Amino acid sequence: MLRTPYYIFDEAVLKARADTLRSLLPKGAGLVFAVKANPFLAKWAAEITDRLELCSPGEVFLCEDAGIGPEKFVVSGVWKEEGFIDGLLSRGGEKATYTVESPAQFELLKTLAEKHGVTLSLLFRLSSGNQFGMDEDTLVPLALACEACENLRFEGVQFYSGTQKFSLKKIGREVEKLFGLVKKLEDLGLKVPEVEYGPGFPVTYFEGESFDEPAYFGELCDLLAATGYEGKLTFETGRGLAAACGDYVTAVQDIKHTDGASYLVTDGGIHQLAYYGQMMAMKRPFVDVLPSSPEPDGGEGREYTVVGALCTVNDVLFKGLYLKNANRCDRIIFHRTGAYCVTEGIALFLTRDLPRVYLKNADGSVEEARGKIETESLNAPRRP
Ligand SMILES: Cc1ncc(COP(=O)(O)O)c(C=O)c1O
Repeated sequence: MLRTPYYIFDEAVLKARADTLRSLLPKGAGLVFAVKANPFLAKWAAEITDRLELCSPGEVFLCEDAGIGPEKFVVSGVWKEEGFIDGLLSRGGEKATYTVESPAQFELLKTLAEKHGVTLSLLFRLSSGNQFGMDEDTLVPLALACEACENLRFEGVQFYSGTQKFSLKKIGREVEKLFGLVKKLEDLGLKVPEVEYGPGFPVTYFEGESFDEPAYFGELCDLLAATGYEGKLTFETGRGLAAACGDYVTAVQDIKHTDGASYLVTDGGIHQLAYYGQMMAMKRPFVDVLPSSPEPDGGEGREYTVVGALCTVNDVLFKGLYLKNANRCDRIIFHRTGAYCVTEGIALFLTRDLPRVYLKNADGSVEEARGKIETESLNAPRRP
């Protein structure tokens, strides 16, 4: 029996999801996995996607450690440290693709490409109205200048517009903006070989949400076809690929009845469980309960509020979980936790251990990818 609290990520589910996404996207489109959504999936994702989007030295290092080659990397982000890019270029990093998110980044990549005597492939990132990427007026002259640089190759445009985007109306406006830029560049004589677009493919996390995914992707494909763009289309996704492949498992540690309410206190918490759009368990994620002993037939059940072990009233995981008979050590399994839970939680709150991570390989074998990690040393001054 695996020890709670833990995450378990399933390779077969991840791979099936990649197949589904590819079947829904325009024919021949590329797929990029944003590693920030779940670094534990990097190795599997590298096998089933065209590239991995990496936003920090740490993300690059863990991919290198996993034996993933730089040709799979798209190195993005608002802060590209000179020493880090320099180091990467001395380890074959010229095979990676780089986003350009400011004129200063352009200069940095140009200087380092010249220093190493290599040619770098660049995607110019269009801003969606925030600190990422550049506006059109900044991007266009820089892209044109790229053409004149011997050590730089203009690969195309990158655009990530935000997460969990159910609205096709919004996506329609983005497509207009993005491909308006592409047309402008092409009218100026610059061929745009690739557009890498992260539309924030949405995931249903809660009971009662309705989402017709095939219809959604059908409309998206129509919108894209209408642009007349003939280059390579690549889609970046994090949660759209990874959410489905993960479960987060907690165990009941205490059962209490207070002022007419019944609580299951678990060894988990909101620091380890991040459902986009969840607040105070106002919504019901998909859960299953694995009883520690067989439930007796018949009898009156009751509804429980499932809480975690943090010292905050916000630490509510599920409200109204109906059980005939609750017991200590019952396991509560939270589904669709393959994206962001492992990376976005307020991990250090209350100095709790970080949960174990298990990987379930496609052959059914399960391996421990990370043991529990104690956080005392991170939450205290260093002793002399
Ligand atoms: C550049 C970039 N691409 C892709 C993603 C993945 O987003 P999502 O999980 O909504 O698909 C992110 C998330 O922050 C991102 O910053």
